[in-house]
Amino acid sequence: LASSQDGAEMRAPVVRFGVHPLSKYSQACPQFSEPRELVSFSYDSNRRACMDNRELKYYYPPRLQPPPSLFSGFEQQVKRDHTRNEHIDGLLSALTHIRQQNGDESVLLRDAQSDFVMYRGMLTRIFVTPYSLRDAWSMNATKVGSTIYIEENVTVENIAGRLGSSEEHQRMMYGGYRFETLCVIDTPPEKLLPEELELNLQARADEIVNTNLEYCSVFRTRLGGHSIVSGAEVDCIERAKPSAFPSRHYRELKTVKLLDSERAQSSFERFKLLKFWAQSFIAGIPTVTVGFRDENGVLRGVQDFKTQDMPRMVKNKPRMWKANVCMNFADQVLQFIKSHVVEDGPETQYRIEYDPESQEIRISPLGQREPFLTAEYLSALAP
Ligand code: A3P
Ligand code: MG
Ligand code: MG
Repeated sequence: LASSQDGAEMRAPVVRFGVHPLSKYSQACPQFSEPRELVSFSYDSNRRACMDNRELKYYYPPRLQPPPSLFSGFEQQVKRDHTRNEHIDGLLSALTHIRQQNGDESVLLRDAQSDFVMYRGMLTRIFVTPYSLRDAWSMNATKVGSTIYIEENVTVENIAGRLGSSEEHQRMMYGGYRFETLCVIDTPPEKLLPEELELNLQARADEIVNTNLEYCSVFRTRLGGHSIVSGAEVDCIERAKPSAFPSRHYRELKTVKLLDSERAQSSFERFKLLKFWAQSFIAGIPTVTVGFRDENGVLRGVQDFKTQDMPRMVKNKPRMWKANVCMNFADQVLQFIKSHVVEDGPETQYRIEYDPESQEIRISPLGQREPFLTAEYLSALAP
């Protein structure tokens, strides 16, 4: 078909996937295999992707006495430039790194080949769609060989959301990062003497938040009939990183408003817990530590939640979510994408978007565009 450069008339038609009825997804959970890490990397303070663990942090519970402010240091923070579109460059660099380190015939490289390559954020959005019907999303897809690559379609609205709509909103977002710095140290705690640990804990209270810094785990998993390679920002690990199954020791950190009413509790379970579950479940992260802040941004409490217990916490409660619905939905959406993102070549791209108005997912051909896969990655694929 569309081998011609122009010719919108040559393009495949727009196809639609209606989200409703949710009963389409109520069968037992599809197969999901435990995510297995392939490689990990870090972003440094200049937002350069480094193929090592320099930004991996270690969990150590935050001190609540005296109760720390999550807003302090707001003015000093160093903010990542969200106007620069990174596409999926970091993830692709990590895959290229695997190829260079292990060679074209390696088991690791074979493992890194999959039906889909996309960041965890895209999978999370797909997972929660049946219960986040008002939240639009938009992605770009391209197929090279037998793999479909998906990136976020970065819009002015996304960038605005990341920058924060008001000072209050910006403080909340800052508070999320500040909580992370108050929960982690640079060295495995079990390797520190008590006085060294104490110095680390004092140092972290004065840490300047820099949102460029990140540690990222690249992993392989399988959902239903789809093999997936993905990457996820990981907040911290509980001890020195083991070579086998490191994700079993990873931990996600989150902040929420104090749950001071029945209504707040129910909204937490309905919306927040769903997102926490999907995000951590997909990457195989077993624990989410939630910091509760009051209206002045003071940290009032901390609670650990087990990712695997979250679906049970909301079971049989009205208007809540179900893990099997999210998983079956995602399985079917990936199948829909596989059926329509078919043309091979990095210039041929498709838009995949969820429209809250019609509550359907649409795939439309974008025709020929500049690839969002890097030249470096493409030349490593086909030297
Ligand atoms: P909270 O989630 O604690 O509010 P993450 O939890 O994914 O590690 O992200 C850390 C913090 O980055 C979040 O803290 C939030 O403040 C901010 N953040 C993450 N994703 C965001 C998004 N899509 N838009 C705006 N801010 C975001
Ligand atoms: Mg984080
Ligand atoms: Mg976090």
